Amino acid sequence: MKIVLFGKDGQLGWEMQHILPSLGEVIALGRKELDISDIPALQTTLKQIKPTLIINASAYTEVDRAETESELAYTVNALAPGLMAESARKLQAVFIHYSTDYIFDGTSNIPYKENNMPRPLNVYGKSKLKGEENIYLEGDAFLIFRTSWAYNIRGNNFVTKVLRWARESKSLKIVSDQISNPTWVRDLARTTFEMLSHHPETLFEYIKERRGVYHLAGNGYTSRFEWAREILANASTRTEQPAPTIEPATSDEFNMPARRPRFTALDCLKFEETFGLRLPDWQTSLQTAMQD
Ligand SMILES: NC(=O)c1ccc[n+]([C@@H]2O[C@H](COP(=O)([O-])OP(=O)(O)OC[C@H]3O[C@@H](n4cnc5c(N)ncnc54)[C@H](OP(=O)(O)O)[C@@H]3O)[C@@H](O)[C@H]2O)c1
Repeated sequence: MKIVLFGKDGQLGWEMQHILPSLGEVIALGRKELDISDIPALQTTLKQIKPTLIINASAYTEVDRAETESELAYTVNALAPGLMAESARKLQAVFIHYSTDYIFDGTSNIPYKENNMPRPLNVYGKSKLKGEENIYLEGDAFLIFRTSWAYNIRGNNFVTKVLRWARESKSLKIVSDQISNPTWVRDLARTTFEMLSHHPETLFEYIKERRGVYHLAGNGYTSRFEWAREILANASTRTEQPAPTIEPATSDEFNMPARRPRFTALDCLKFEETFGLRLPDWQTSLQTAMQD
């Protein structure tokens, strides 16, 4: 299998880069190798490499900055994935893409299923939804995995931010009115890999028969406040440092440029029933990740 991985230096891409080589030859590309907002260059690169599998772990993920950089957000999150899907179709290659819980407006109080109506509240969510639509228009053997609250123990994410804030302050205020599934990107990478490795010889047909959108996130859901408490509890077993006090807050207390949906827990049953796999409970993964 000849695999092109986009976004190799991101949270998910970094994990994918390390797990994919046992599936085949991997051409891993980051921004330095190819700026995917350069659509003609992206097209030429795929034409030249002729992969049999394209995995897109790249995205414009700066939720607040997207409000003022919407053109770039749409190019990276919508145009480029559409072109990747089109190239994959022409090459008879499989295309794997990731999307987000932020395509929902968060007004539900039960976990979202794939066929629930999307209604993104911010530019990032809108651009990711447009990406899904473009893939449906252009793609053939594709899977779109919507995930949520992705983290790793490296990089800039909620877990590393809470740990930094805990070092810098004696008390933290964390929103308790945003609820979703914390997802360790290593679980996401492993599960994607496992799903792909079951049918290496007939992957194109296997994926084509199951093509579409799937929710794929850590099992169970929680608020950012409870998540932060769990992060600090795991951290305090490893350091002598006294844990800061932590208080719940509402989203309205923070003046963020982009609106965040309140409840975006994802129901991942469709993925589990289709592929026989699911991600571990979010608390178990957090514990494992923090021991890593
Ligand atoms: N993070 C979350 O909480 C979250 C939640 C739900 C869904 N998702 C989705 O999950 C997937 C993986 O997210 P992640 O957290 O791994 O994202 P990430 O850490 O932000 O990684 C994204 C990668 O894409 C690269 N990239 C951005 N614009 C590019 C461009 N024009 N050309 C080339 N590369 C470019 C970034 O490079 P630079 O570092 O150089 O910018 C970065 O390495 C994405 O589809 C995201 O939308 C994420």
